[in-house]
Amino acid sequence: MPKNRMAVAVLASGRGSNLQALIDACDAPDFPARIALVLTNVPGANALARAEQAGIPTAVIDHRRFPSREAFEAAMRERINKTGAELVCLAGFMRLLTPGFVAAFSDRLINIHPSLLPAFPGLRVHGRVLESGARFTGCTVHFVSAETDAGPILIQAAVPVHPGDTAETLAARVLESEVRVYPQAVRWIGEGRVRINGAVVEIDGVAAPVAALINPLPEAATAGVRRQPTISISEKK
Ligand code: GAR
Repeated sequence: MPKNRMAVAVLASGRGSNLQALIDACDAPDFPARIALVLTNVPGANALARAEQAGIPTAVIDHRRFPSREAFEAAMRERINKTGAELVCLAGFMRLLTPGFVAAFSDRLINIHPSLLPAFPGLRVHGRVLESGARFTGCTVHFVSAETDAGPILIQAAVPVHPGDTAETLAARVLESEVRVYPQAVRWIGEGRVRINGAVVEIDGVAAPVAALINPLPEAATAGVRRQPTISISEKK
């Protein structure tokens, strides 16, 4: 294990797939981070069980027990700071954060969102993607700025929309990429390779893909690939 692994606090409200990806990544001997705290605002969230299973300290701070958003966030800040966390990862944390909370963790707060930001911030993402007719969606890991689902982008995965997708099938395909890119982003930060330059994130030693992704595929390339149903002239009538 690297010495002085970066302490990370993970904030989650639900299922915890992205948390689990981070937990699993931390098992690798060369991973430069460790999870020092899993904090949830939802008592009984599945993320809690995942943390407990991995022997990670947990905290439940139920927002409903606080008179204001500020008081709730003050309690979270105190608990996070106690762990000495150098990075805070939002992993399906479904409370809006005030500019005060974001400023308190300036450049140390990252989020994963299931779309290619800046497209489709907010809720009900996959249904909105399908309604839009977009051929690609994806996921984004970004530093958090005061606006919802916005801030300098660390890494994205482009995910194709398939004919016949439902919000559920699309969410599942996007999640497969989420659990790959989130640990990768944390690794780069832990390795000290990431700088924020205005809206742009610079990462030492990374390369960009050369080829474009095209969806639908040109016909010559589709042998053996799922095709969009062809509508015959008689059906059209
Ligand atoms: C993930 O798809 C994550 O991208 C999304 O919530 C889900 C949590 O799933 N986050 C947002 O929509 C944030 N705006 P998980 O608890 O299984 O990781």
